[in-house]
Amino acid sequence: MEDLHEGTEKEKNGKTSGRKQMIRNRTIPLEQLAIGMEVVALDKSWLETNILFHRFRVRSSEEIAKLRENGILMVTIQVKENEPERTATKPRAAANAREDEDRPIFDEQETEQDFQDLDLHPPYSIAEWTALQKKTVALVSKSFEDVRMGRALNPDPLKPVVIETVEMSLSNPRHNSFLVTLSEVDDESYVHSANTMILSMALAVQSGIPKEELVSWGLAALLHDIGKAMIPLDILKKPGKLNSEEWSTIKKHPQLGFSVLSKNRDSCVSGLCATVCMEHHERKNGTGYPHHIDLKDLNPVSRSLMVLDIYEALTSGRTYRNPLSPAKTLTYLLENEIHRLDPKAVVQLVQMIGIYPVGSLVELADGRIALVTGYQDPDNHTGPVNLTILFSSRSSPLEEAERITLPSIDRDNVRQTFHPRELGLSPSDVIGHIETAETEHG
Ligand SMILES: [Fe+2]
Repeated sequence: MEDLHEGTEKEKNGKTSGRKQMIRNRTIPLEQLAIGMEVVALDKSWLETNILFHRFRVRSSEEIAKLRENGILMVTIQVKENEPERTATKPRAAANAREDEDRPIFDEQETEQDFQDLDLHPPYSIAEWTALQKKTVALVSKSFEDVRMGRALNPDPLKPVVIETVEMSLSNPRHNSFLVTLSEVDDESYVHSANTMILSMALAVQSGIPKEELVSWGLAALLHDIGKAMIPLDILKKPGKLNSEEWSTIKKHPQLGFSVLSKNRDSCVSGLCATVCMEHHERKNGTGYPHHIDLKDLNPVSRSLMVLDIYEALTSGRTYRNPLSPAKTLTYLLENEIHRLDPKAVVQLVQMIGIYPVGSLVELADGRIALVTGYQDPDNHTGPVNLTILFSSRSSPLEEAERITLPSIDRDNVRQTFHPRELGLSPSDVIGHIETAETEHG
């Protein structure tokens, strides 16, 4: 079973050849899996195994043994077109089979070679990620529509996208979290719910939340604002500030959502999701709404989600408010909101996002404005950073973008940050620059 898509080949000297190459998915029996191969799917769903990563590069025979223990029979791997079939199926004499069992099928040299090649294909591309985000928004929209029309909410279609998001987050939580800030704001409730779930999964994975709890967290994030489905659209979509009566109506959405979710046949929806829906606007010392409950008496998922709720709302913007950059949003949270929130949850978010995540637009000390396209250590937002210079000054866009690498970026060499919209850049502009830079820098 195979499917094809285009990839880009990088030569070993670190420069791109510019040639397009077909990447192929091939499903093979587990016995043919070898060290160095890149697994992109297993024949069992994420919930049916205790294997955290379902997309990974095989690094040891122990990993293959773990797949066997979990009853995996077939795996889908990613290979480049023209890669010889021989590497996966080097024949072995029956008499030698037992002693070879624990050894990689590739010899040392071939394994080394293969690692270099497979490193070219990150487990999730930006295109795959944005497709998942769109799918999630569509499913959330359907859930809101069901509630608006008085139909029963079916959580089952939402679970697979939560699972896919977990896998994406496991693959690279930091790299992908910036994309939530690049959403268009049409249908803002749906986008907000999807983005909050995406952030929530990245944070939950980073915090080591047990796998069996992740889907519940994700559903709770997707449904936390479902009560807004019962708020009149002319209030929800009103441009400009709300008057006090309209504001009182909006503030009913936690209770309205709870009334729907708590009756759902699914125990996760009627339990955790309903609780988080009711609690996500409560604040420290009972300064929130609707029941003025102190933070310490809230579910930990509610304490975490309320921070992500604010972060997403500020970075995405609203019809009546321009979006903020991640750095400005985190600064705002630390300076103005932390006293009403769980400080641990705020710090976790700062650690996950980083001050200048990929996708940030920074004005350097010399006035040039650059897009952060990647860190050389993707697990760490410190150290060498790849930038694409887009403006020589705020009013002077460059005709041709220029790529540079700096040893680091911090408060000493960044004057200020911008949201793409402040500079007239669309989400696709930003994504395009990042993809180009990723191809260049590898
Ligand atoms: Fe809300």
